[in-house]
Amino acid sequence: MNGRRSGLLLQVTDLSIVFGGLKAVSDFSCDLAPGELVGLIGPNGAGKTTVFNMLSGVYTPTAGEINYWDHKGKVYNVGTMGPASLNHIGISRTFQNIRLFGSMTVEDNVRIALHSRRVETPLDVLFRLKRFRMDEDRMIQKTGELLSLFRIEAKKHELARNLPYGEQRKLEIVRALAANPQLLLLDEPAAGMNPQETEELMKLIGFIRREFRLTILLIEHDMRLVMGICERIIVLDYGRTIAAGTPEDIQKNPAVIKAYLGEDAVK
Ligand SMILES: Nc1ncnc2c1ncn2[C@@H]1O[C@H](COP(=O)(O)OP(=O)(O)O)[C@@H](O)[C@H]1O
Ligand SMILES: [Mg+2]
Repeated sequence: MNGRRSGLLLQVTDLSIVFGGLKAVSDFSCDLAPGELVGLIGPNGAGKTTVFNMLSGVYTPTAGEINYWDHKGKVYNVGTMGPASLNHIGISRTFQNIRLFGSMTVEDNVRIALHSRRVETPLDVLFRLKRFRMDEDRMIQKTGELLSLFRIEAKKHELARNLPYGEQRKLEIVRALAANPQLLLLDEPAAGMNPQETEELMKLIGFIRREFRLTILLIEHDMRLVMGICERIIVLDYGRTIAAGTPEDIQKNPAVIKAYLGEDAVK
């Protein structure tokens, strides 16, 4: 199937994974069209991060299928690929527990990520010879651009571990962007941030989606937060999809209210 004809970037069908006896995710399905920003929410332990681990090649699904189409319409079976190969075809993620090289500078953290970037953009195909390798100057420039977008350029020579928590989270996103993704998976990017930082970050996520023409799947456990920026929301509870739809639909869905607030919340 051709990606452009199907109109999809990602098609996830009946994805499940079992750990020991526990079915952490059951029959998860979701289609993402290019440019969409979709929220994945649910209480702690619902299986959100596990879905990301399967979409990013960290875990191999027990059952189900994940298809991904690159910009040329070539289809990939994501469930059989590892994180590095997925990075190369345009799938990047951030981690709920920050994974930076703490004893390296902010700038070097980004430069390492630039080395593993996806090279095959439409422009790279056009200018294959010129662009196939990014030279050092261009890499420094690109690092600076990404860091200033997130307002952490002034700290580029500091060690990553010395940044305040909110800025470490931003640096994680910069690293994911450095890989030049088509699909960006953000796992609780605002965790540990104060309300003002969080609002600023949500705006920035909306901005980078438009600017980089990205498709984003965003995990966030706070329902109100994702309401503002996501067009669609999928809700997990105990590994199962209990609701999917627009923020308005989700907000008044009794199963969702029950999952979040407990039995008493539903009259
Ligand atoms: N590698 C693993 N081994 C065993 N159990 C796991 C593993 N990863 C996740 N789980 C379990 O799967 C369930 C879903 O976890 P997770 O996806 O991290 O939830 P969420 O991100 O929604 O908070 C939890 O019960 C968790 O303990
Ligand atoms: Mg999680």
